[in-house]
Amino acid sequence: MVNDIIKDNIKLGSRLHTIASFVPLGSKLADIGTDHAYLLVYLIQTGTIKSAIGVDIHKGPYESALETVKMYGVAQRVDVRQGNGLIPLRSGEIDTLVIAGMGGTTILEILQSNPQVLAEASKAILQPQGAEARVRKELTVQGWRIKDECLIEEDNRVYSVIIFTRSEGLDYEEIENRIRNIGDHFRKYILQQKLKIDTDLMNEKLDHFIKKYVWILGPINLENKDAHLQSIIRENMINLDNIVQGMAKTSREETKEKAKLVEQERKLLEVMQRWLFQ
Ligand SMILES: C[S@@+](CC[C@H](N)C(=O)[O-])C[C@H]1O[C@@H](n2cnc3c(N)ncnc32)[C@H](O)[C@@H]1O
Repeated sequence: MVNDIIKDNIKLGSRLHTIASFVPLGSKLADIGTDHAYLLVYLIQTGTIKSAIGVDIHKGPYESALETVKMYGVAQRVDVRQGNGLIPLRSGEIDTLVIAGMGGTTILEILQSNPQVLAEASKAILQPQGAEARVRKELTVQGWRIKDECLIEEDNRVYSVIIFTRSEGLDYEEIENRIRNIGDHFRKYILQQKLKIDTDLMNEKLDHFIKKYVWILGPINLENKDAHLQSIIRENMINLDNIVQGMAKTSREETKEKAKLVEQERKLLEVMQRWLFQ
């Protein structure tokens, strides 16, 4: 039986739609972990990209991608391959990468899987789910720059989208400078508000706190005061509350000391939330 080809543009949810909006016109794109290949079909239908390669490691998603490109009549223009990370790609085939909907650690492993192809990519649009700080830090240490970032809500969950390029945006040094700058402003705010914060917490611990959370929350998200930062900060506070609760069950002095540090971090997060959004 021959199924009719769907002529309408495929509809993307807000997360994939945001990712699509960062794909440069005319790019040669690979979507790693493409699953259903919705993103690639949309980008071909809208004339955004020249060529598209979708890679997925698992048979089910690979077959589902083949099915989608057939259904939308774009099988000649979207090359679907089964394999691990960047390994199925050859030199000269792509200039832009999308890796979305996976843990940050998996994304970093995928990026390491084919150094030659990675070296030819000038843009990487990443949407890690967890380990966002590691992704930002490791890529900027490797010479990538953060060109843009945003937070997007879909189905009551907030996702980070981070755009890395080779030549535009914040490099590692510039992010470290921002960290110092944000630290100075945050310290001033605490003093102005006459908040009761321990002296040791105001000194080196505050620097450590700011460093940790700029990498977690994102330097551009912080600059933009992205409203969804509030949910991410809240999520981090809940995690810290759970850690403190777990630690409260023990009578060991060492653990009690650690719990105090976690409580201090929790307090600073609350102050940061107020500083950013009050
Ligand atoms: C949750 S889905 C995300 C699909 C799509 N990228 C999105 O954001 O909607 C993750 C997909 O990545 C694939 N995947 C996981 N590890 C991979 C790897 N090392 N190489 C290629 N694909 C991988 C999985 O099989 C799965 O289809």
